[in-house]
Amino acid sequence: MRPARALIDLDAVVHNYRHARRLGGGRALAVVKADAYGHGAVACARALDGEADGFGVACIEEALELREAGVCAPILLLEGFFEAAELALIERHDLWTVVASPWQVEALERHRPAKPLDAWVKLDTGMHRLGLAPAEFEDAWRRLRALDGIGGMVAMTHFARADELGQARTGEQLDAFDQALAALPAGTPASAANSAGLLAWPRARREWVRPGLMLYGTHMLDAPRAEADALRPAMRLESAVIAVRELAAGEPIGYGGGFVTGRPTRVGVVAMGYADGYVQYAPAGTPALVDGRRTGLVGRVSMDMLTIDLTDHPQAGVGAKVELWGPGLPVAEVASSAGSSPYRLLSGLKRVPREYSGGA
Ligand SMILES: Cc1ncc(COP(=O)(O)O)c(C=O)c1O
Repeated sequence: MRPARALIDLDAVVHNYRHARRLGGGRALAVVKADAYGHGAVACARALDGEADGFGVACIEEALELREAGVCAPILLLEGFFEAAELALIERHDLWTVVASPWQVEALERHRPAKPLDAWVKLDTGMHRLGLAPAEFEDAWRRLRALDGIGGMVAMTHFARADELGQARTGEQLDAFDQALAALPAGTPASAANSAGLLAWPRARREWVRPGLMLYGTHMLDAPRAEADALRPAMRLESAVIAVRELAAGEPIGYGGGFVTGRPTRVGVVAMGYADGYVQYAPAGTPALVDGRRTGLVGRVSMDMLTIDLTDHPQAGVGAKVELWGPGLPVAEVASSAGSSPYRLLSGLKRVPREYSGGA
C-alpha cells in the first residue's frame, strides 16, 4: 500500500474550537468549508456536534452534506445563496444564510418562507469581495427586519489583513463596522473575527466569532501572539521513503535537472507529490522530517514522488517515516518555505487517505 496518509486528530480540532470559543467570549461558528480545510467536514462537524454553536460552509452543497450526515446544529452559508431557487432548500434544511447583495434582499422579500430564516447581513468594510456597501447596509437591514420570513439577524463583516499585526487596515475596518452598527438597534448581535481577528484583535471579538484555520491548529499571524500558543495541529501529513540512491557531487536530481548535488548526496524518494496536493514548485530546502529529524527537499517535486536529502540521516532507509507537516513541523512553516499558505496546503490535499483518531 502507498504509505501516504493524512492523520487527523479530532481531539485537537475540539481543543482548538474550545480555545477559540473561550477567547471570543461569546458564540463561535466553526468554519468547516472546503471539507474542513482538508480535514473532512463530516468528521470534524460530528466531533464538534453538540458543542459548536454552528458551522460555516461556503455553499449549499457543503451544508447538505452535513445535514445528510446528521449534523443538527445551525449551518451558515458564508457566501449566501447564488440563486433565489436555493431559498426553498435553505428553508427545508433549516440553514442560515449570509445576505451580501441587494438582489438577495429582493429575493428574500419575494420568497416569503413559511418559517423564518436567520440572516447574517454582511457589510463590506474594506475587503471588497462580498458585502453590502455602507450606503446600502442600513436600508437592507431594515427591509429584512420588516419581513415575517426573517428570524434572527446578525450584522457581519470580514477582514482582509487581520494576520498583519502592525497594519492599520483592520482597525479601520472595525471603525467602519462600528459606525454601521451604531445605526442598528442596540443589542444587535455582530460578528467580525476570523481566526486572525480572534487571535490578534481583541476589539474584533463580538457576539459571534468565525474561526476557520485556527481550528486546524495553525495560523498566519506575522508576529507571535500568546493566544496562538495553545493551538494543536490537527493534521499530520506523512509518507515514507520508498527508494534510496547515492549520488556523487555534480549530479542533477529530478525533472528539469535544476537541482544539482553540491556534495556526495544520499537521496530518499518519498511517496508524495503534487497530485496529492503538495506544492509542485516547492524549492530545495523546503523542510520535511525523516524519522522525526529535520531535512529538506532536493530536486523538483513530481506528480507522485518527491526527493529529500538523507546525507545526514544514514539510519534512514526504505520505509523510514517522513512527516511533510504536522505536530513536529508546522504547516505554516512548510507553506512559507514553499511559497504557499497553510490554507492552500491543507485544503488542497487530494488523493491522500485520511485516518482519524479522537473525537469520541
Ligand atoms: C466569511 C468568513 N468568515 C470566516 C472565515 C474563516 O477564516 P479563517 O480560516 O481565516 O479563520 C472565512 C474563511 O475564509 C470566511 O470567508
